[in-house]
Amino acid sequence: MKIAASGICGSDLHLYHGRIPLEAGFILGHEFVGTVTAAGPDVTDVAVGDRVLGCFVTACGRCFFCRRRDFHKCTEARVFGHGKALGGLQGAQAEQVLVPHANLTLRRVPPGLSNDAALFAGDVMGTGFHAVRGADVAPGDVVVVLGLGPVGLCAVQAARALGAGQIIAVDTVAERLAMAERFERRRSTRPSRTRRRRCGKPPADGAPTPASTPSATPTRSTSRVASRGTAARSP
Ligand SMILES: NC(=O)c1ccc[n+]([C@@H]2O[C@H](COP(=O)([O-])OP(=O)(O)OC[C@H]3O[C@@H](n4cnc5c(N)ncnc54)[C@H](O)[C@@H]3O)[C@@H](O)[C@H]2O)c1
Ligand SMILES: [Zn+2]
Ligand SMILES: [Zn+2]
Repeated sequence: MKIAASGICGSDLHLYHGRIPLEAGFILGHEFVGTVTAAGPDVTDVAVGDRVLGCFVTACGRCFFCRRRDFHKCTEARVFGHGKALGGLQGAQAEQVLVPHANLTLRRVPPGLSNDAALFAGDVMGTGFHAVRGADVAPGDVVVVLGLGPVGLCAVQAARALGAGQIIAVDTVAERLAMAERFERRRSTRPSRTRRRRCGKPPADGAPTPASTPSATPTRSTSRVASRGTAARSP
């Protein structure tokens, strides 16, 4: 692939701070959009000339986990730009990148979607969405998102898309809290009746809604983190 856009992720900090060892000269980068310039004979789902986005990880497509579509748990998973520790796959902060298992790893970018927006699909939005799906968020639920980096901000949007009744977003960075609130202000639909019944109206003092759903019960870890950060609350 010829790279048109690549991103820097919070995960790159793990490499920067030495929590994941990185060999000298190894190329970083696991968020990327670009054009297919050559393809092996087994590549059937994308073709030379296609504008594509890449997933941060490659998977074999055949193992136990891949057959369950848990591709991130693939026994042969390799993460772009994470050194030998995570598969020795060179990253995408480069002019070109070599993409194994391209049928699984790449997706065509729909016309009209910018490279910068498409960049989010292969890592941060996928991760935020996966977290919200994994939490079984149902319409009307109260959702707490801890940490509002790109992943947390995507989780806020995913929770909103899945119909969360109230989202409590926690961070210490004012700009990130403000962005989480902006996503909520863009909410175009009124809460459904079902959602109101389950969540009630937020109290006037803005305290979290004491909804009857189990997910709304404050946990010890929630209050501990919130005491260090600032909560942006949106009805
Ligand atoms: N697929 C994956 O597994 C995947 C993909 C992307 C990122 N990640 C991981 O997700 C995490 C977040 O990524 P990111 O790019 O959003 O990172 P980021 O560093 O940009 O954001 C993290 C945010 O958490 C906030 N934070 C930290 N401690 C806090 C606390 N105690 N209370 C409140 N807020 C706190 C920080 O202020 C920051 O805004 C990273 O650990 C990253 O490695 C995993
Ligand atoms: Zn990442
Ligand atoms: Zn696999």
